[in-house]
Amino acid sequence: MAEGRGNDYILECEGLSKSFGGTKALQDVELHIRRGEVHALVGENGAGKSTLMKAIIGLHKADSGTILFEGQPYKVNGPAEAIKKGITMIHQELNPEPHLTVAENIFLHNEDMNGIFLNKKETNRKAVQILERFNFHISPTMLVGDLTLAQAQMIEIMKAVNTNAKLVIMDEPTSSLDNDETQRLFETIHQLKEQGVSVVYISHRMEEIFSICDTVSVFRDGRFIDCKPISEVTEQSLISMMVGREVGNVYPEKNCPIGDVVFKVEGLTGKGFSDISFEVRSGEILGLTGLAGAGRSETMRAIFGLDPLESGHIYLEGKEIRNRNVKQAIRNGIAMVNEDRRKYGLCLYRSINENISLPNLPVHQKGLLLNKAREKTENKKYADMLTVKAASLDADAISLSGGNQQKVVLAKWLMSNPKVLILDEPTRGVDVGAKSEIYNLMCEFAKQGLAIIMISSELPEVMAMSDRLLVYHEGRINGELFQEDIRSGKVTQETILAKEFGN
Ligand SMILES: Nc1ncnc2c1ncn2[C@@H]1O[C@H](COP(=O)(O)OP(=O)(O)OP(=O)(O)O)[C@@H](O)[C@H]1O
Ligand SMILES: [Mg+2]
Repeated sequence: MAEGRGNDYILECEGLSKSFGGTKALQDVELHIRRGEVHALVGENGAGKSTLMKAIIGLHKADSGTILFEGQPYKVNGPAEAIKKGITMIHQELNPEPHLTVAENIFLHNEDMNGIFLNKKETNRKAVQILERFNFHISPTMLVGDLTLAQAQMIEIMKAVNTNAKLVIMDEPTSSLDNDETQRLFETIHQLKEQGVSVVYISHRMEEIFSICDTVSVFRDGRFIDCKPISEVTEQSLISMMVGREVGNVYPEKNCPIGDVVFKVEGLTGKGFSDISFEVRSGEILGLTGLAGAGRSETMRAIFGLDPLESGHIYLEGKEIRNRNVKQAIRNGIAMVNEDRRKYGLCLYRSINENISLPNLPVHQKGLLLNKAREKTENKKYADMLTVKAASLDADAISLSGGNQQKVVLAKWLMSNPKVLILDEPTRGVDVGAKSEIYNLMCEFAKQGLAIIMISSELPEVMAMSDRLLVYHEGRINGELFQEDIRSGKVTQETILAKEFGN
């Protein structure tokens, strides 16, 4: 029988391997989690982080290796059994049950609640208590399918915390949360820690890792690289361990001329935003920041023809345009990378090739026929440019790691050759290396004269990349900030947060 390192450790994995067909997702990896610590897992997209966690909760069966939980051999056949033993996981790609209510979802798989499951009133009452504890104001009877991505994420977090687990696995829990919600999650993590609960924290956001984690394990290409106390690493040294080489500045120097106004909106009003006016010039990156629900995505969705506009005007190169639907928007030269890639960005059970081709059929057409050869080479060019890591472009999108799915979405829109590119959280779930590539591409496209609008809740990113920054507060623009003031230090994270909160 395997022997553990002792009582300090809640979970000890040794020699775990897992392959999917020809892909070696995990090769002989180890992981040692102490009681009451927050343990970061870092690594590039496809490094094997989610696979390792899924093996621990029994969603994947490891090909070999041993796991000890509280010093005892541990084996489970699925998440429900893992929860019973004391391990629960918040998934990277949310899988909420759309037809369940908020309350039902919070108590799903929670065996203790079996008795009252039938009692709707009691379930709702208990749910209200939990929602209040998290200071989260939504009705317990609301359907999960009607929630925003951020709300669904908060519900998943509550659900996990509510299982009285000894180990909570969080796979990129903040990817769709705003700064305020992220702070609330951090408070929850501190409380869990105080209760002696261990947390595995997976994130591509360096500042989060340094602010809440005690220890970090690094993975690269399915292999375990090292485990260190957070006090012994720096951002630079971590990034080097992740990518296996020295890395320079993540944010590129953007030195391209800013030209004439390409895109302009006046007095846009719709559901969740009112009286929005701004313009974007060719070669310019306009950043939009604000709390979740402040109306940024809603404005962009209306511009892109996904939601109706109540009033206002949109101009492209001086001419008024109307985008009643997405097709019209694309034809008018607008492309939008949506924040919710699983709902709007990808057909998960279609190949990468088909996904990239979808809005680009005119590019691939030869007369009335589809030029298959051209489709393949063009798609490959874009997939390579964005370094999509996949067995082949014929693989289904669902088999890709989270960050690689995002790259496929970017590839498909960049190929449509737009004049205005709207990016809603473009680097969500994307690793540092690929982030840097996306930033480089944004600069490259700006250089070619595109007008770029980027929504981002990641302040370091939006501060580094934007020539100009608009801060939203409750559906309106509450301030315009400039890159030179960010560079000179006149505008700081605090300045922006204050504006996000309406000051
Ligand atoms: N169900 C699956 N079928 C086939 N291949 C898979 C499956 N799940 C994962 N993989 C492959 O295993 C490797 C590891 O993927 P995994 O999702 O664990 O990466 P990750 O470190 O979580 O990445 P990310 O940061 O992008 O979330 C990748 O090459 C991925 O394509
Ligand atoms: Mg993952």
